[in-house]
This record gives sequence, structure tokens and C-alpha cells, in this order.
Amino acid sequence: MVPARHRSHRGGESHPGDDGVSVTPGAPIAAGYLVPEPAQIVERDSYGPGIHAYRLRICDPAARPRFDFMPGQFNMVYAPGVGEVAISISSDPEDEDLEHTIRIVGRTTQVIGRLDVGDFVGLRGPYGVGWPLHEARWKDVLVITGGLGCAPVTGAIDYMFRRRANYGRISILHGVKKSEDLVHRDRFEAWRRHPDTYVGLTSDEPDRAWRDRIGVVTELFEEVDIDPGRTVVFMCGPGVMMRYAVAILRRRGVPVERIYASMERNMKCAVGLCGHCQLGGEFVCKDGPIFPYARIAKFFGPGAL
Ligand SMILES: Cc1cc2nc3c(=O)[nH]c(=O)nc-3n(C[C@H](O)[C@H](O)[C@H](O)COP(=O)(O)OP(=O)(O)OC[C@H]3O[C@@H](n4cnc5c(N)ncnc54)[C@H](O)[C@@H]3O)c2cc1C
Ligand code: FES
Repeated sequence: MVPARHRSHRGGESHPGDDGVSVTPGAPIAAGYLVPEPAQIVERDSYGPGIHAYRLRICDPAARPRFDFMPGQFNMVYAPGVGEVAISISSDPEDEDLEHTIRIVGRTTQVIGRLDVGDFVGLRGPYGVGWPLHEARWKDVLVITGGLGCAPVTGAIDYMFRRRANYGRISILHGVKKSEDLVHRDRFEAWRRHPDTYVGLTSDEPDRAWRDRIGVVTELFEEVDIDPGRTVVFMCGPGVMMRYAVAILRRRGVPVERIYASMERNMKCAVGLCGHCQLGGEFVCKDGPIFPYARIAKFFGPGAL
């Protein structure tokens, strides 16, 4: 284990949106801006053959402050000679090293999946809009995730626990298909030990060692108290899961304007130039990937609100 070294140049309280990169449409993009910065793999944790969490250290310490991020933002991870993929940053923003949790699905991730401690990748970012952590201050936060959907939100949860007094009740509902799909169990167990916190884990197809709930994530709603007047919801996972979750939340009186969802689209430039990530008029790379649900509900089909 490489110990997480905490950032000395970041103060205690920072506000989402105060830092991070934003690209203004039409503004010139500096030449160096799209060039990946070399980073070395300093730790790799594998969750079965198909999912790996990499801790990456930016090789040039002078470049590290440019990678300060807000939870929910993503980097483009470059496998030299192969290509780039958009990957959420799953670490705590206070950690010196950056963590990316990657599922091996295709051409580029297969190459990344063969890399190990000591190997190098390129990173550019961080990109996009993070979770509304400032707006959620003093409120209850309900986090609903499915599958690897937990990756974009783990950093946000760590951020809130690091400032625990600033948030009300934190409820985390996470579902996986098979129990072996559960990544970062150690973090879920650590969060579970906090006061005024509920962590519900469920699996559709558990193995014999599974001790948590069986079924789909929306069944966990029965176990949480939701005060609709003071709850902010962070959602991330398959579209069908998010659609069912929103229906339940609406029935329980949570206003749609306090529901946020993380979206994924195929990406190339990540800075609003190529149009690969477009969702109607929205560019997922720079307007998202975190959106107020009301803004994107139409993409979830009729009756999605
Ligand atoms: C903002 C954002 C954050 C993401 N965060 C993570 C993360 O934390 N961990 C992680 O493992 N993955 C994440 N992804 C998905 C990741 O970018 C894709 O899995 C990756 O690009 C696949 O690249 P590949 O070359 O290995 O696969 P390819 O050979 O390009 O494709 C393999 C298959 O995956 C599909 N695919 C490719 N990219 C995407 C995409 N972005 N969305 C949906 N389907 C896609 C293709 O259609 C194809 O079916 C994120 C995507 C976005 C947009
Ligand atoms: S990825 Fe190019 S515009 Fe979004």
C-alpha cells in the first residue's frame, strides 16, 4: 500500500467550482492544454480480472496543482500508442496521488489493464462539472449508484466525510449485479462506521459469502428515511436504474431540482470541440458529466419525470 499523502497546498475548505478547469465556448485553447502529462502507476488493486483501481503519480511535481479536481470530474487517460479514455477520478481530492477505477471493456482499456506498478500513462484534465457539494452543505445527501457507477462518486463521499459537520444525514445505496462486481468494499465499510450514516449494499446475483441485501438497488429505498425538504440526491449508474430511482424519489416528495445524475458518452476531445459526447444540445464533456436531472430527463424516455 502506498500511503495517501495529503496535499499541503490545498486549504481545509474549498468550494466546488472555485477550481477545476472550465472551457468557455469559443475561447482559444492553449497548445499545451491537450498534451497528456506523464503519470506513473504507484499502486494497482484488482477486483477480479476486469476492474482495476490505479493510483497515479504525476511525474512532474510542478504539474501536479493543475490536476487539482472536484469530485465528479474526469481525466482523459492515455495509453501511449493506443488512445485515450475518459475516466472519473475516484480518489479523495486531498490525496496527492490520483486514483482511477477502470473496467476493461475494449481497445484502450485492455491495454491499460495490462499495465502494472511502475508503468506510465498520460493524463489530461480534469474536465467537466463536479457534484454540487457546496449546494449540498447542511442538507441530507442520498447517494444512489449501480455497478461501476460508484467510481465518480467515491471521491465526493470522501470529501463529505472529511467535512462531516457540514452535511446532514448521508445515505449511500449501492447495487451490483454480481457480488464480485463490488469495488472499494473497504471504503463502504469505513463509511458505514460513521454516525448519522446509512450504507446499503445489494447484489442481484450474490455468491455464498455475500452478507448484505439481495435484489436491485431501488429495493434499498425501503430502508432509508428521506426528508424531502432537505435531501440532495447524487445518482450514477445504468439509465434504467436512475429512471426507477427518480420515480420513487418523486413519489416520496423529493423535488426534481435537487436530483443530480452523472452521464457517460463516448468522448474524444473532452473540451467541447469534436461533438462526440453530445446529448441533444448538451456536451457531456463540459456541461456535464454531472447534470441536474431535470435538464436531461428527456433523454431517459417518456415519463422520466
Ligand atoms: C465522463 C466519463 C467518465 C467515465 N468514468 C469511467 C470510470 O470511472 N471507469 C470506467 O471504467 N469507465 C469510465 N467511463 C467509460 C470509459 O470511458 C469507457 O469504458 C472507455 O472509453 C472504453 O474505451 P475502450 O477503448 O476500452 O473501449 P472501446 O473499444 O472504445 O469500446 C468498447 C465498448 O464500450 C463502448 N463505449 C466506449 N466508450 C464508452 C462510453 N464513454 N460510454 C458508453 N459506452 C462506451 C463502445 O460502444 C463499445 O461497445 C467513463 C466515461 C465518461 C464519458
Ligand atoms: S468529447 Fe469532444 S465535444 Fe465532448
